[in-house]
Amino acid sequence: MKAIEAKEVYFSYPDGTAALKGINISIPKGEFAGVLGGNGSGKTTLLRLLNGLLKPAKGDILIEGKNIKSIDRDALFTKVCTMFQNPEDQLFSPTVAQDIAFGPVNMGLSREEVRQRVRSALAAVEMSDCAQRPIHALSFGQKKRVCLAGVLAMDPEIILLDEPTSCLDPAGVSSIMRLLKNLNKQKGITFVMSTHSVDLVPVFIDRVIILDKGIVAQDGAPQAVFSDSDKLKSAKLRLPHIGHLFEVLKNEDGHNIEHLPLTVGEARQELKKLWS
Ligand SMILES: Nc1ncnc2c1ncn2[C@@H]1O[C@H](COP(=O)(O)OP(=O)(O)OP(=O)(O)O)[C@@H](O)[C@H]1O
Ligand SMILES: [Mg+2]
Repeated sequence: MKAIEAKEVYFSYPDGTAALKGINISIPKGEFAGVLGGNGSGKTTLLRLLNGLLKPAKGDILIEGKNIKSIDRDALFTKVCTMFQNPEDQLFSPTVAQDIAFGPVNMGLSREEVRQRVRSALAAVEMSDCAQRPIHALSFGQKKRVCLAGVLAMDPEIILLDEPTSCLDPAGVSSIMRLLKNLNKQKGITFVMSTHSVDLVPVFIDRVIILDKGIVAQDGAPQAVFSDSDKLKSAKLRLPHIGHLFEVLKNEDGHNIEHLPLTVGEARQELKKLWS
């Protein structure tokens, strides 16, 4: 079953900027998909179409096979939750706990269930100590964590993440990515995540969609997409650092490297072969 499909989707902003120009994507249920691309390539616009905040000028968005136009607004917001790129677009309650509770309260859950969801969402993003703090007193990275907690508290089937790791400290990036990957594996939640962090991609992401000026430039497994560094450069991206190092070892130092390693684990295996 497909969780999300976009069929020949076009979108322009009111000022005439053509942000998406014929997007076709198909994301199976339970996949962890990454959307990559330079600034202005259309990532945020695409995510806003996938959650129904924007409507395509042409083409169709399908959620679990159903046209998004025919899905009731509340049902859509319960099924598909988004962590926005900018926390200011998402957080509006006076305190952290109130903000996270907003979605579950609107779903009509019992007071105890709401309390439980807020507690476990805050624990998941390691922000339990901040439950009663005012939102405006948080740092940017802490606000990002609260945004994610708000999404987790909804317990949705599909989670869209717009650059969730930007401005997190390095330990936070690893712990949040591991948390998301566990939710993906254990609960089968489908993820679509936009990111500029190419080094995260081969570790956590099953499939990569590269946007370039509003079109899908590449779509496939990280190994396939990252095999052509020239195409990546033209989409304002780069290879993960590990892959770049091995590309230099191959092209400039003449080492025989069959499969370009993209993660520390893969590099370790390749180095053991080179040194044996
Ligand atoms: N509200 C808006 N009004 C007009 N044009 C917009 C608006 N928002 C985005 N755009 C334009 O649409 C195009 C796609 O923007 P979008 O925000 O989707 O890019 P992005 O890939 O998310 O970029 P970034 O990596 O900087 O977040 C850009 O040309 C941008 O200038
Ligand atoms: Mg964006």
